[in-house]
Amino acid sequence: MTLTGLIILSVLLHVDAYFADNKVIGTLYRWKQIDFEYPTPEERQAALDNGEFIQLNVIPLGVERWQNRVFVSTPRWKKGVPATLSSLPTASQTESLPLKPFPSWTWHNADNCTGFTSVFRMNIDHCGVMWVLDSGQVEAFETPRQLCPPTLFAIDLKTDTVLNRYPIPQEFVLQNSLITNIIVDSRDALCDDVHVYIADAWRFGLIVFRAADAAFWRFNHYSFYPEPLLSNYTLHGLNYQWSDGLFGMSLGKYQNGDRPLYYHSMSSSLEFVVSTSVIRNPSRVSDSVSEFKLLGESRGADGQVSAAAVDRNGIMFFNLISKDSIGCWNTNKPYLRENLYIVARNNATLVFPNDLRIDHEVPQTVWIITNRLPFYQFNLIDPNKYNYRVMFLDPVAAVQHNVCDNY
Ligand SMILES: *[C@@H]1O[C@H](CO)[C@@H](O)[C@H](O)[C@H]1NC(C)=O
Ligand SMILES: *[C@@H]1O[C@H](CO)[C@@H](O)[C@H](O)[C@H]1NC(C)=O
Ligand SMILES: *[C@@H]1O[C@H](CO)[C@@H](O)[C@H](O)[C@H]1NC(C)=O
Repeated sequence: MTLTGLIILSVLLHVDAYFADNKVIGTLYRWKQIDFEYPTPEERQAALDNGEFIQLNVIPLGVERWQNRVFVSTPRWKKGVPATLSSLPTASQTESLPLKPFPSWTWHNADNCTGFTSVFRMNIDHCGVMWVLDSGQVEAFETPRQLCPPTLFAIDLKTDTVLNRYPIPQEFVLQNSLITNIIVDSRDALCDDVHVYIADAWRFGLIVFRAADAAFWRFNHYSFYPEPLLSNYTLHGLNYQWSDGLFGMSLGKYQNGDRPLYYHSMSSSLEFVVSTSVIRNPSRVSDSVSEFKLLGESRGADGQVSAAAVDRNGIMFFNLISKDSIGCWNTNKPYLRENLYIVARNNATLVFPNDLRIDHEVPQTVWIITNRLPFYQFNLIDPNKYNYRVMFLDPVAAVQHNVCDNY
C-alpha cells in the first residue's frame, strides 16, 4: 500500500495506523551501533583495542534539541563507554553519524567529578541553558560504582560553557536511589526564576532544585510507587520485571500564577498531577499529601509510559514503551481512555521509545529516542540490525482529525 493510501485508510477507519515514516513522524538518525568522533582514526582504533570503547555496550538514552543541534546522552551502564554526552547536527547527509562528545572530549573522564561521569537525561530551558542530570555512577548493569555524587550541570548553549555544577546533597539521595529524569520549569523571560524537578525512580521521591539559591528539597508520596502488575512487562516476546517508580514528568500551561506538573511512575498505568506552587514551596514537604492527585482513569494493561511532554497547544505526547507507540492527550480534556489516542506506532522503528522532549522552536517538534533497552539489559542487541533511532514528530499534524485536536 502507498503511504497516502495508509494515511487515508487510517483517517477513514479511525484506527491506530501502523505508520511508517510519514508526514507525522520521521527518523533523523539511526544506528546499528553507536560510534564516536575521535580526533584521529588511530585513537579510535586504540580505544577499541584496549577496551575503553566497547561498541555493543553503548546505548543512547536521553535526547534534546536546541537550534541546529540535537544532544544525545550515552550513560556508562556497562564498561567501554568513552563519552556520555554528545551533539549532532539537525541537518546531516549521514543517517548513522558518529556522536561528537560535548562540549569536548576532556569532559568525559568518568572519575573526574568536575566533568561528566554518566549522563542520563537533559532538559533545555527557553533561555538556552541545558540542564544535565549525571548519575555519578558507572557500570550499573555490571558492578555499580558510585564515582561522584549525582549532579546537576547547567550548560550555556550560546557559548558551550558549563555555568555551574550542583551535586545533589547526600540527605536527598537515599541508599539505592536511582535518579533518572529531570524537567526544567522556567517561566520568566530572563530565566531568573528556574526550578528543576528530579525523579528518583527507585526510592520514590521528587527532588526540587531552585536555581536562585541552589537549594534542594525532597517530597515523598505514595503516588510515586509502581503498580505490582504493571511491573511485569512483555515486549516482543521478552518478559522482564521492573519496579520503577516516579519517572515521567511534564509541565502544563502557566496560567494565573501556577502550572500543573503531570507525572507517573514508569511501572504504572496511572497519571497524577500536582500544582507546582505546592512543590516549589519547601515548607510544604511534610504538609501536602492531599495535593498530589490522581488524574482520570488508568491507561490499562501495557499502559506503561516512560517520558512525556506538553506542547504549546496543551497537547501531551507520551512514550508507550510496551506498545511501540507514541500517545497523545489534550490536557484541556479529562484524562479518560476515550480521550487518549495513538499518533504513531511501529513495531520495527518505535521499539522502546525511551525519551521524549519538545523543543522551543516555532513551530515546535517532538523529539524521541528509541533504544530497545530491555534487549540491551539482557545482552540481546543484534549489531546487524538498526537498534537506536532519533525520531521527530510534528505535534500539529499528529493530532489532526483525532481526539487530541483542540477543535
Ligand atoms: C577534570 O575535568 C575538567 C573539566 O573538563 C578539566 O578542566 C580538568 O582539567 C580535569 N582534571 C583532571 C585532573 O583531569
Ligand atoms: C507476568 O507476565 C507473564 C507473561 O505474560 C505471565 O505468564 C505471568 O503470569 C505474569 N505474572 C504475574 C504475577 O502476573
Ligand atoms: C509487526 O507488525 C506487523 C503488522 O501488524 C506484523 O505482521 C508483524 O508480525 C509484527 N512483527 C513483530 C516483530 O511483532
